[in-house]
This record gives sequence, structure tokens and C-alpha cells, in this order.
Amino acid sequence: MEIVLKDLKTAIVGRNVLYYQTLPSTNDIAKKLAREGMSEGTVVICDEQTEGRGRQGRKWFASASSSILMSVIFRPAVENLPQLNMLASLAIVLTIEKVAGIKSTVKWPNDVLINGRKVAGILVENVFEGTNLQAAIVGIGLNINLDVSRFADISSIATSLSTESGRDLSRDHILPPLLEEMDILYQSVKRNENVYQRWLPHVETLGKTVRIKSGRSVEEGRVQSVNPDGSITLRHADGSLVTITTGE
Ligand code: BTN
Repeated sequence: MEIVLKDLKTAIVGRNVLYYQTLPSTNDIAKKLAREGMSEGTVVICDEQTEGRGRQGRKWFASASSSILMSVIFRPAVENLPQLNMLASLAIVLTIEKVAGIKSTVKWPNDVLINGRKVAGILVENVFEGTNLQAAIVGIGLNINLDVSRFADISSIATSLSTESGRDLSRDHILPPLLEEMDILYQSVKRNENVYQRWLPHVETLGKTVRIKSGRSVEEGRVQSVNPDGSITLRHADGSLVTITTGE
């Protein structure tokens, strides 16, 4: 399939798009290109990944041309990294609403769910040169017309936009507005505007009782807050508080 992006109205995100049919992982190529100096906003996108990766060493599965599989190279200030993470899930939520008219939510840290099932996952990987942040790679897997019922491993936990909207959507419908939304939000991040305040109302995790893997331990508690630095604070049954920076 062709990726149709000729009328894209963006300043940074998607000014340069590298499209491949098959790659091991768009994040790996984007990381390599970022190290070699590739420009900020470059999008690496493909139809199919042979080694698609999720968070915490999991695999990311998507049948050919069923999903947006892409990675965007950003070069943010290190203090803006948490906002960059939020930008990705917020852009997906806003685009789904705009194009498909469906409400989706963010499950901390930044899965996007529709009716409790995962429609998109985000893998942010930072590229350091010594102690300097050189780039942050925002990898997005967004299921557009993936028929999850055909895949036993994910059929009970995942969904796709076509399934949820009952419409025959394609990547062409979603990709241009998604890149435009990411571009708008990234400009806000650069101006130090508060993406967190816009992101927070979409986070469905607040107030819920959750179990989160944190390093080797598992923390269980009621979600007290999701914080501007991207961390989450839980209240244990005994009343004590714990703040976790990454996990599930
Ligand atoms: C997760 O939910 O665990 C994150 C999934 C991220 C998947 C995307 S698909 C495009 C990019 N390339 C990868 O190998 N992973 C990300």
C-alpha cells in the first residue's frame, strides 16, 4: 500500500517520512537513524514488522498492513521527556475521536483503550550519547483493521478501530490527522505549555485498584494520582503510599 501524506500540514512531525514494506522494528531503525543525525520529526513507518517490540520485553503483533506501525524521532529537552510520552497517547485519543467519533482512554502509562480493550501501544526509547539525550523515539502501534478474533493470544484483550467503529477504516484515514495532532502537541511541548493538564482527563486509571509490576516486585493499591512527571502514586490497603515511575 502507498502511504498518502502529500498534503500533510505539519511543521516538524512527518516532514520526512521513510516508508518500508517490512522491517524488523521501526523503533530500531529510527534509533539507528537518530544516532546518525537524522532530522527531528522523521517518521519511520512500515506495513509489517518481523520483530515488533512492546514494553517490558514483550512482542508486538500486527498482521500485514492492518495497523499503523511507526516511530517518530524527537529531540526534546530532557525535562520534557514525560510530556513527550503523554503527547503520544493524547494525540491518539484526539485523533480517534476526530476521525472515528469514538471515545478512547489512556491506561497508565500510555496504552490506549476502547471499551477496555487495547487499540494502541506506545514504546518510547531514549537515545543517549554519554549523558546527553540525543533523541527520543516514539514508537506507535495502532490497530486499524486488525481482525483480533483471528489471533487467540490477543483476541480477549485487544481491539481495532474498524471493529469498534463498525466502519472500514484504513491507515490513510488515521495517519495524516495523527501526525498533525502530534505536531501541534509537540509545538506545545516546545513552548513549555502543559500537555499533562490536557492528557490527565483522558487517563482512566485514576481511582481504580490496580496491580503494577515495578522492577521485581508487584505493587497493588488504589490509584491516588498520576503525576506531571509521568509517575503514578498508589495507596496500599494499609494506607501507605508508593510512587512508581515505570511499569505496567
Ligand atoms: C506496548 O504497548 O507494549 C508498546 C507497543 C509498541 C509497538 C510499536 S509498533 C511500532 C514500534 N516498533 C516497535 O517495535 N514497537 C513500536
